Amino acid sequence: MSNRNEPCAVVLAAGKGTRMKSNLPKVLCPVVDRAMIHFVLDALEKAGIRRQIIVVGYEADAVKKELAGREGDIEFVLQEEQLGTGHAVQMAHSALKSQVGPTIVVAGDSPLIQPTSLKKLLDHFAETRPALLLGTLEKSNPEGLGRIVRDGAGAFWGIVEHKDATDEQRKICEVNMSTYLFHTPDLLDSLSKLSNNNTQSEYYLTDCAKLLREAGRVVEAIAVLEPCESLSINNTDELKLVDETMRSMGY
Ligand code: UD1
Ligand code: CA
Repeated sequence: MSNRNEPCAVVLAAGKGTRMKSNLPKVLCPVVDRAMIHFVLDALEKAGIRRQIIVVGYEADAVKKELAGREGDIEFVLQEEQLGTGHAVQMAHSALKSQVGPTIVVAGDSPLIQPTSLKKLLDHFAETRPALLLGTLEKSNPEGLGRIVRDGAGAFWGIVEHKDATDEQRKICEVNMSTYLFHTPDLLDSLSKLSNNNTQSEYYLTDCAKLLREAGRVVEAIAVLEPCESLSINNTDELKLVDETMRSMGY
């Protein structure tokens, strides 16, 4: 068992990936000839995150089988129904109760996540000790992604999903790439307060950020992510783009 004082990770990997036009669960769709989730777990490992809690759901057994041979301290938790990213992390509640160190949450559909960015987040977190530190970046075409909304002074206000955003908010180019570093008790506390009162009737993990800010806890968003990390895989075009990008980067 890994040391509970060290940072751990929760990897969101329960979705079907309806727009992938494949029977495979999304995280098993191959990029550079490997199931995409391997690259996410490799990045975590390179950043020194040994304890990896993986939320599985759609075709859970296939995902478990694919990851059976991996090194590291892998645990699986089951999300039977995919009710949203916040709901997915709620499934890790018991696993996180024993966690003393911070918790990184990442998405299994983002194989370009960089260990260097994770390390930057861990270093910044160690210095400022916020409730939540978000890794973000500016993207010229932010269509479809959650937007980082800031107040007049530039302080973090909240994440608004594209589908819930006003026209004004849709002009914001700073985006959420689902790279979160939480003080674990604050994560558990905010998860218990989530509601699904939004256009998709889902429990959004993004709402934890606003809930914590409203509770007077410190939430920071810093634009440390690399341009390649703006790519995630939601459809077959993005799969092709990520595959080409990774090959050109020498993966
Ligand atoms: C999410 C973020 C959005 C961000 C984007 C890219 C939310 C509400 N939105 O949107 O702000 O810009 O990612 O990082 O979080 N999953 C589960 N269980 C579920 C739902 C999803 O495990 O019930 C997994 C999926 O398999 C996937 C990941 O979570 O690996 C992200 O889910 P997805 O539906 O792709 O979220 P986005 O709409 O892209
Ligand atoms: Ca996605």
